[in-house]
Amino acid sequence: KKIAVFASGNGSNFQAILDQIKAGTLLAEIGLVVCDKPGAAVIKRAENENIPVFHFLPKDYDSKEQFEAEILAHLRKHSIDLVVLAGYMRLIGSTLLEAYGKKMINIHPSLLPAFPGKDAIGQAIDAGVKVTGVTVHYVDEGMDTGPIIAQKSVEITDEDTKETVEEKVHRMEHVLYPTVIQKILN
Ligand code: GRF
Repeated sequence: KKIAVFASGNGSNFQAILDQIKAGTLLAEIGLVVCDKPGAAVIKRAENENIPVFHFLPKDYDSKEQFEAEILAHLRKHSIDLVVLAGYMRLIGSTLLEAYGKKMINIHPSLLPAFPGKDAIGQAIDAGVKVTGVTVHYVDEGMDTGPIIAQKSVEITDEDTKETVEEKVHRMEHVLYPTVIQKILN
């Protein structure tokens, strides 16, 4: 089965998925990386592995429909079975939802429906919660609102700083996402 990873930044989740594939614990292939930030580190990571990358600048297009139509053409060209959003900082529009809606998942660094949107870890710390976590969910037209597939909790103690919470949450993401992807592909 072939997956596409959409990312805008560092790509540590992309890397975790790739590492599980290489280790033989995730039976899949990353057929495409889609990135809307031409300088992003995820692009280098993919190119180092000879994984095809489609990167684009949204402002070069008149509308979301236009760049999503181009993304869709790349997904079809590479026969992508599942779209995996991993730090893709953009809402998905109707063009991609109509084509891939039930085959598109996202990971978010909180226990949704708490703390959707940007800086979910900062939101959790500011709220003073003692437990936060990670959610994998299907994608719909909302911001971090689709049906929940899996969640894992992460504790916040008095000793934690934003950095240590981020480390714990990301470590949890890197375990949970490949596991959930495998389950969905099965
Ligand atoms: C992750 O925390 C993910 O949950 C969120 O964006 C971040 C992406 O990190 N949606 P990375 O680019 O995979 O390192």
